[in-house]
Amino acid sequence: MPAPKHNPIIAALDVPTAEQALELASQIAPAVGAFKIGSELFTNAGPDIVRRVRATGAAVFLDLKFHDIPNTVAKAVANATRLDVQMLTIHTSGGTEMMRAAEDSAQKTAAQAGLNAPLVLGVTVLTSSDANTLAEVGCEPNPGRQVERLATLAVRAGLRGLVCSPLEIADLRQILPSNIQLVTPGIRTGAEKADDQKRTLTPREAMQAGASWLVIGRPIYGAENPRAAAERILQTLF
Ligand code: C5P
Repeated sequence: MPAPKHNPIIAALDVPTAEQALELASQIAPAVGAFKIGSELFTNAGPDIVRRVRATGAAVFLDLKFHDIPNTVAKAVANATRLDVQMLTIHTSGGTEMMRAAEDSAQKTAAQAGLNAPLVLGVTVLTSSDANTLAEVGCEPNPGRQVERLATLAVRAGLRGLVCSPLEIADLRQILPSNIQLVTPGIRTGAEKADDQKRTLTPREAMQAGASWLVIGRPIYGAENPRAAAERILQTLF
């Protein structure tokens, strides 16, 4: 495995308040490459938490998984771009027009604001969905085939990155252009206690399979010493 060119750890700030998020971020910042702000924190602390984390100089992945009409998604992406986030998520199941509107909005807004465009990441099939979930909403019931279908659509629509489960990385690397960035949650080191992540890889295994970025929550923020936990994970990658 070639050593990663960047620190690929994205630490999920899955805590309920701005104060807890900023405290966690300041503890672990030197050992991680970016922070993920998701729906739980955002719906409590609002866009201000994004500004405050960005003000520390850290990169931010805003994981709000937009899925709406193209015009609304484009406007939400424009607002996220003006917050100067480095990555954000949209649902690929919104279709080609919605994905194109998101990517165009990120590019145009960034150019107008003099910022770098965020990486717009497509979410394919949530790892909480199985064949039953897909069948009940009228989709191809084989999760692997549905992931491939949506991933291919996303790349054709111009997205430059996808979120995928660790066990999908190797298959997606076979069919996608090599410049597509793959971001994966579901990372476990083996040292933490069992939780709701069922299909996991270690950080090293995920990087070997072709991940570009690792989203890691509980193994870092749930550890007795989050900074030491992040440093231990980072050491396994080099
Ligand atoms: O604590 P843990 O390492 O499981 O955190 C993983 C993070 O990635 C959480 O913020 C979770 O919401 C997110 N995520 C996930 N599985 C997906 C998509 C996102 O675990 N399929």
